[in-house]
Amino acid sequence: MVLEAEVISQQSLPKHVAIIMDGNGRWAQARKRPRAFGHKKGVESVRNAVQFCSKLGIESLTLFAFSSENWRRPEDEVSTLMELFLYVLSKEVKKLHKNNVKLTIIGDLSRFPDSLQQRVNEAQALTKDNTGLYLNIAANYGGRWDITQAAQTLAARVASGELQASEITEKLMSEQMAMAEQADLDLLIRTGGDYRISNFLLWQAAYAELYFTPTLWPDFDEQAFSEAIACYVSRERRFGCTGEQIKQLLAEKDATS
Ligand code: IPE
Ligand code: IPE
Ligand code: MG
Repeated sequence: MVLEAEVISQQSLPKHVAIIMDGNGRWAQARKRPRAFGHKKGVESVRNAVQFCSKLGIESLTLFAFSSENWRRPEDEVSTLMELFLYVLSKEVKKLHKNNVKLTIIGDLSRFPDSLQQRVNEAQALTKDNTGLYLNIAANYGGRWDITQAAQTLAARVASGELQASEITEKLMSEQMAMAEQADLDLLIRTGGDYRISNFLLWQAAYAELYFTPTLWPDFDEQAFSEAIACYVSRERRFGCTGEQIKQLLAEKDATS
């Protein structure tokens, strides 16, 4: 995007929001329940978030559901999460389709059970022509994996002689990355009180606004989401410029509109 367009898009809603949905385990533990209880409750927040973004007309919502590091968790928690994912996919896809949502799963799916991979393919095929919200679910996703797979794709093209190494640009790298055809990431939210990215969208978050909230994911309702959006709208995005340059660009925009 050219700078003018980036600047002019500020003070308006984000086009692309991503969320690190953290805090399910602590939410359950605070209620003396098993961690799985928190994951199940978290599905309600996912539903709310999808509805809220559709209602606001946000273009893309990207949710971090399972990181490439989450395999390190106890085996029973990993299987609970897989089962929940499979269940939610089966149960919710028709409704998503009815609501014109286009579903994409980003991440390395090869490590998932065949049944899950098949369900993912069916869900993506069913919703691929929808024109409403892009809903991206990151599963076995890692930002470093994403950059690495982009590098591999381009390296293969160099090896075949189709591309020169010197022709590799940031734009070409971006085009191999997950969600390349969608709007740039504007807002990255993390619930659960920690201040880290945990290997989420490393490349795509280059100029995203970051928003951290102590609210645990199962408590992240429409009110909490609205607060994050309001905070985003109030910020000045400078993209390397000075505040004065940005104000001037915005004044020029106001004068012509
Ligand atoms: C986020 O909640 C969900 C996943 C990582 C799958 P957590 O399970 O990490 O919850 P906390 O951080 O332990 O509370
Ligand atoms: C990040 O949460 C991954 C997801 C929300 C899916 P984690 O709970 O796994 O992150 P860390 O381990 O605290 O950094
Ligand atoms: Mg966590």
